[in-house]
Amino acid sequence: MTSLIPFVGQISYAEQCDWARQISDKLPDVEVVPFSDLSLKDFDAVQIAITANPDPVELDKLKNLRWIHSVWAGVERMVIELKDKEFDIVRLVDPELSRTMAEAVLAWTLYLHRHMPQYREQQQKKIWNELSYKKASNTAVGILGLGALGQEAALRLKANGYQVKGWSRSLKSVDGLETYSGDEGLTEILKTTDILVVLLPLTDQTRGLLNERMLGLLPAGASIINFARGPIIQSEDLLALLDGGHLSHAVLDVFDEEPLPQTSPFWEHAQITVLPHISAPTDMDTASEIVANNIRLYLEKGVTPTFIDRQRGY
Ligand code: NDP
Ligand code: OXD
Repeated sequence: MTSLIPFVGQISYAEQCDWARQISDKLPDVEVVPFSDLSLKDFDAVQIAITANPDPVELDKLKNLRWIHSVWAGVERMVIELKDKEFDIVRLVDPELSRTMAEAVLAWTLYLHRHMPQYREQQQKKIWNELSYKKASNTAVGILGLGALGQEAALRLKANGYQVKGWSRSLKSVDGLETYSGDEGLTEILKTTDILVVLLPLTDQTRGLLNERMLGLLPAGASIINFARGPIIQSEDLLALLDGGHLSHAVLDVFDEEPLPQTSPFWEHAQITVLPHISAPTDMDTASEIVANNIRLYLEKGVTPTFIDRQRGY
């Protein structure tokens, strides 16, 4: 019997059709369709849905839903919007996404380490001035979050000669990496980090975690890369530390509000590089393979994929 699986997402109909086609092609007894192509009589038969920023109202119509599979890695919005729902949530864990993120972390670490923003500014002012060079092996990069993305990024930085440290909720053991956990661990890593990379999920524990006090622990002249979620860093505090000269630069890919409002002071700030949430886009080819495989294992062998822990928030 063919299983019907809707794609539920606040993305264009054309994009939903692309996902539906790619995943259906990999599953002979499954038909994936955009949610709007379901008829009323189909709703009760649906047990699994594939999602990208789903509208909770659409999911509410699927009374027999057991789990949903997101094609995104971050689940913060779903954890809040779907908190009373009984179905489980699977998020995207894709080695290709980790590779893309590691590439971005390396690229923007080099940007900061090799003073690219400052040289660009000097050129604009026609200033010929050599800034001091610090070897990668003397540059400490601290990564907050050592999950699917953080660990791969750490290894990539290590392979490029940086001193790499990482912080996570549970203490990790990763070859060649100094690892930390807990409040003391956070203090320790911040005090000794030149370039701070944020790859934490946004949860009740991490919202606003990087405030003036915490960011102030970084050594003078340190810089920050936030590729996780905007509200982990308190914007006003970040601005104060950049303006006051304690921090030298921030590369921000994620914001409290996206797209970043035209009125945001970040746009024109000389010490902030604004990116439009592009550090690690989902790759439809590899992600649809992973989603299809998880669905196949469930339908054919009853194997449930790894669900997020709603209590923990990620
Ligand atoms: P994971 O769940 O695999 O890893 C999260 C890491 O953060 C884990 O190491 C976890 O610790 C740690 N962590 C969570 N809470 C805390 C805490 N309170 N204190 C200390 N450490 C904590 O997530 P991913 O690596 O896959 O993704 C991370 C985030 O990146 C996503 O949630 C998403 O927001 C963002 N993202 C951004 C993208 C972009 O393009 N900008 C693209 C994709 C994702 P432990 O290991 O002990 O559980
Ligand atoms: C994600 C993202 O969560 O793109 O996958 O931020």
